[in-house]
Amino acid sequence: MAAIEMKNIVKQYGDGFPAVNDVSIDVADGEFLILVGPSGCGKSTLLRMIVGLEDITSGDMIIGGKKVNDLAPRDRNLSMVFQNYALYPHLTVYENIAFPLRLAGASDSEVDKKVREASSTLELDEHLERKPGNLSGGQRQRVAMGRAIVRNAEAFLFDEPLSNLDAKLRGQMRTEIARLQKRLGITTVYVTHDQTEAMTLGDRVAVLKRGVLQQLATPRELYENPCNLFVAGFIGSPPMNFLPAKVDGDSVELPFGTVKIPSEKAQRAQGKGLLIAGIRPEHFEDASVVDEDKVSEEATFHAKVDVVEWLGNEAYAYIPFEAPPEVEKQLQQLERDLDGESLRTQLVVSLDGASRITEGDDATIWVDARKIHLFDPSTGENLTMDVERAGTVPGGNAMEKAEEVGRARDEVQPGSDQPAT
Ligand SMILES: Nc1ncnc2c1ncn2[C@@H]1O[C@H](COP(=O)(O)OP(=O)(O)OP(=O)(O)O)[C@@H](O)[C@H]1O
Ligand SMILES: [Mg+2]
Repeated sequence: MAAIEMKNIVKQYGDGFPAVNDVSIDVADGEFLILVGPSGCGKSTLLRMIVGLEDITSGDMIIGGKKVNDLAPRDRNLSMVFQNYALYPHLTVYENIAFPLRLAGASDSEVDKKVREASSTLELDEHLERKPGNLSGGQRQRVAMGRAIVRNAEAFLFDEPLSNLDAKLRGQMRTEIARLQKRLGITTVYVTHDQTEAMTLGDRVAVLKRGVLQQLATPRELYENPCNLFVAGFIGSPPMNFLPAKVDGDSVELPFGTVKIPSEKAQRAQGKGLLIAGIRPEHFEDASVVDEDKVSEEATFHAKVDVVEWLGNEAYAYIPFEAPPEVEKQLQQLERDLDGESLRTQLVVSLDGASRITEGDDATIWVDARKIHLFDPSTGENLTMDVERAGTVPGGNAMEKAEEVGRARDEVQPGSDQPAT
């Protein structure tokens, strides 16, 4: 097992477009790192450079303390599990797992020992004589992992391994991969564009946008302290609400009314004119179900509720609002960046299941003002980020850098947004 250090990695494809742009990420020995971001942001490219399937344009790739830029994939001793596991259909599970060992010329006794160890870890003992075609998707994936385990690989690399499974199996496999990774303690880099997988699997998560690293942090840090609008909108479901806001002293003027925020936060956003406030749905509540001592004038507002979706344990209330053009424009751009996840100008409020608010009500809503973030609408930067609890935010404004890349690239290949197939 080994640590993986990526230092200022750049990948420029033949047409000059930087698919990965100056990315530096340290993956500790035994760590589970997630690469996440919308389609085309460079996740697979970065992973393929770790394995050696893609040349590195500039920067250093260091695995186990050794620079591997010029090493062939087979000399890096990494194990890659793809979306389709590429098992040999005519071989038994046993022989599928044994395959890399046979290839390396291992003795029968060594093969047997290693395959049985792997199969017991992966709970495949009773399937060893079966063919892959007769296994479930999850079992097949374990076989693929078994093949990776017997090689004593330095690290596991996964590229969206669960994306073609149905939702239920995906959930099961997610837990299974997390458990196995912990048990084996193998350094793992895992690519996904699914923010739930990113949040549940990783020790740390690297969020990419157009080839540029935005933030590298634990799931909690990303959730509580996103460095910019992009990360804030990408992590969390339903997504964070974005509202036009003006700060005056300790007060923030929102479309529904004015709330007081902690002075320390307010100071950092002072005199900046029109801002975008970010508030997660669960930081609102029906004021009538909140403890009385929490409900003060400064933290509640009245609004007409458009639609309520009741889910039993909670309910979502939708409250439309108007946004001025400056904010509207930034939100539309954000929507495009996030791959079309709709950020309509309506507030999504998560209410306790006990709430009696219904459609058409003029409701009194409480907001947890301590949790409000304030973003600069022109740069997207989070002005109220708690730097100590935000993990690593690469120098400069990563969101602006990604914008520049976007513009440069539109000049290279006008109008094309999809990877060549
Ligand atoms: N062989 C290639 N030649 C030129 N450009 C490429 C090539 N492969 C990928 N790209 C470009 O590099 C960018 C990153 O592609 P990559 O496959 O790494 O994205 P991704 O994040 O894995 O996306 P997805 O989630 O869709 O798999 C894309 O804009 C793509 O068009
Ligand atoms: Mg990909």
